[in-house]
Amino acid sequence: MEINILSGALGAEVSGFNLNTITQDNFEKLNTLLLEHKVIFFRDQNISSEELMSLGSLFGPVEEHAYVKGLDDFPQITRIVKAANEKNQWGEGWHSDVSYDVTPCKTIILRSIKIPPVGGDTVFSNMELAWETLDQDIKDIVENKNALHTSNGSKFFVEDYSQMESNGNIGEKYSNEHPIVRIHPETGNKILYVNPTYTKKIIGLPKKESDALLEKIFKHQEKLDLSCRFKWTENAVAILDNRCTQHYAIADFYPGRGLGHERIMDRIAIVGDQPF
Ligand code: SIN
Repeated sequence: MEINILSGALGAEVSGFNLNTITQDNFEKLNTLLLEHKVIFFRDQNISSEELMSLGSLFGPVEEHAYVKGLDDFPQITRIVKAANEKNQWGEGWHSDVSYDVTPCKTIILRSIKIPPVGGDTVFSNMELAWETLDQDIKDIVENKNALHTSNGSKFFVEDYSQMESNGNIGEKYSNEHPIVRIHPETGNKILYVNPTYTKKIIGLPKKESDALLEKIFKHQEKLDLSCRFKWTENAVAILDNRCTQHYAIADFYPGRGLGHERIMDRIAIVGDQPF
């Protein structure tokens, strides 16, 4: 097995590891790599949907997406499709997946099926480092506070992504409060747990103050110093720890460059804990 570290912040590409052959017995090795690097990548993995589900099950129960319809045969697999002439990309903008849920998923596995010749990379960012490097004055204000995370459910995307189908859920239930600093249940590390896509308000602060503080925090989280970038090839797999990272699918599809090509990914997510 060879490990190629992608940046000083997080991320490693692992070679000589066949994801088809992972069993409960050697799963520990994979999970240790994930906890250390936060996002790990594997190329040339010819895994079927059944094998993707089996891989996910080693981390825990695989869940259906809150409001995106999954594949007919595998409802827990969300197919992320950007049509050839579409500019929008599902997953654009920094976010931690489904942070509006009571128990946001802990692990996400992405498998690339069709990748444009240029464009459509994904960037990942380390939210433990974001906490460590945040201004002390801001830390002192937010350390013991909660924030509200909200999504409009299906309304959020149906108009923007022509190939993605809603499962019909449009609910107020996609609004929950979580600690701004959460503890990683496996490592005990502190994580800065707000994100620009879903976090709307710091509880207990006047709206104006909350908006101003969140803006500063989001700006800090966006620093490229905290990130790594992955250039997809087809049949690659990314396994990411959704508790302590954010990600951003880049929508750099412009005429004469990435526009005019389809991008297709499959995604599964593993049930997580309630942040504490
Ligand atoms: C996502 O945000 O889940 C999508 C990531 C990607 O397509 O690269």
